Amino acid sequence: MFDFWQSLLQALERLAMLPSLLHSVLPSLLYRKRRRDAVRTYERTMDDLLREIETLFESPLDAAKLLRMSARLQEQFAPKLQASDICMLPSYNYKLPSGLEHGTYMALDVGGSTFRVAVVELTGKNPGAKSMRIVTMKSYKIDNSVRCLKGTDFFDWMAEKVGTAIADPEVQKLSDNEKPFGMGLAWSFPVEQTSTRSGNLLAMGKGFRATEGTLGQDLSELIMAPCRRRNLPVRLDSIINDSSATLLSRAYEDPSTRFAVILGTGFNISVHLPLSALSPSKYKNYPTSFLASATHVLVNTELSMFGKNIFPTTRWDEHLNSTHLRPDFQPFEHLISGRYLGEIARLIIVEATRTAGLFSGKLPDKLSEPYTLDTTTLAALQLDTSKNLTSSTQLFSSLHPSCIPPSHSDVLFLRRLAELISKRAAAYLAAGIHSLWCLRIQAEGLTPQTAGTMAIGCNGSVIEKYPGFRDRCQRYLDELTGFSGANKGDGIRLEVAVESAVFGAAVSVACLEG
Ligand code: GLC
Repeated sequence: MFDFWQSLLQALERLAMLPSLLHSVLPSLLYRKRRRDAVRTYERTMDDLLREIETLFESPLDAAKLLRMSARLQEQFAPKLQASDICMLPSYNYKLPSGLEHGTYMALDVGGSTFRVAVVELTGKNPGAKSMRIVTMKSYKIDNSVRCLKGTDFFDWMAEKVGTAIADPEVQKLSDNEKPFGMGLAWSFPVEQTSTRSGNLLAMGKGFRATEGTLGQDLSELIMAPCRRRNLPVRLDSIINDSSATLLSRAYEDPSTRFAVILGTGFNISVHLPLSALSPSKYKNYPTSFLASATHVLVNTELSMFGKNIFPTTRWDEHLNSTHLRPDFQPFEHLISGRYLGEIARLIIVEATRTAGLFSGKLPDKLSEPYTLDTTTLAALQLDTSKNLTSSTQLFSSLHPSCIPPSHSDVLFLRRLAELISKRAAAYLAAGIHSLWCLRIQAEGLTPQTAGTMAIGCNGSVIEKYPGFRDRCQRYLDELTGFSGANKGDGIRLEVAVESAVFGAAVSVACLEG
């Protein structure tokens, strides 16, 4: 009977007749639907499901288990430090900046969701004064249409943006017609370096298709060819991974920096290691001058590629991985980075709606598509500590409209999900950082007691901006390094490195001139 009324009303709606009738009857119909749904039977209760989710996400997070994960990660490192052409990648950067370097450089930062073209001025150490300055910067969104640009089409797009940035009168003022701009590139993907300014393009994650038809080709030539075609006054002097760029930019201001973490769309860690930490075969094509003068090297660990069968995963993580464009390519990243935290929550929401009656069993339409729940929405939910959750309810409803607005208990459940997913990510990140801290201490012949404090430059939307994330990760790190024997107050200190990719790209060019 009810369905008859409903289809009749829909017919009337279609006929756009009787609006007043609709407005008086509909709410009671919605009420009746809710009451009918209330009696709709679900496989389980929301509380029962939440208890299971809490157990799955929290039980792996005690210090002893995280230390075991760190130890097993170190076991996974060993063979890759000997031989791998996709991770534990040495760069051609072996010197850390002195902080006295100075000059004006063009810096490119190709991230997972943004392309930045900047002019950076390094002024060197002046007590109390900023030693790095962005003169101009243009940001270009990398949305799905850009990610799907194949092969040289992507590099053409980049050159077009570089051209636009250079045409800026502010930049024109800085250009010297005699010589082109020295340019540094921070590349947020693996690259097999063949010199400070060149490298073979390796597989790219994050949904990019730029490697189609260009895999293995020289990245600097792929970028410089379309720049030359446009007669752009630039010369690519340095290619560096974004995590290594973050390390250099932090080290330019804080010489105790030996690590850098990127946790934004993607995830990675760069570390300054003794040359001997990697097998000599990793330096097979390096110039003798490098091997003669270098004692250390900046290593792009591509840590996102580790962790398979080490970090406990849930059925939602396994679904995300098995339906991913590149399953198992970056298992660690799938558990902690901004591209995936929202997707993990969405998969749980889909199940909770179907089996436990979240949203009265009616999934907001948009959420049926993958990657439609953004990690920034989780952050907004966690930021809303108000009793009635008005702002996050409004935000969620505006982003994911539905004929049935989310109830207070629905939004409470969503907020709890955000807390559990981000907490696990902070703990797993701490285990990852701890594993590399141990690797470096051993490689340097130090002990946790003698290693002192190590600064880590941090960059990326999740570690910089996700509410409480960095503090929570720092607490886990203090606990883990404490258990490993670090003296109180020593261990690891997370330090935000703002705009580190563009600053680091500039510092990497300046270091070459030193
Ligand atoms: C991905 C890339 C890596 C990059 C990281 C952060 O994991 O493979 O090269 O550093 O994202 O952007």
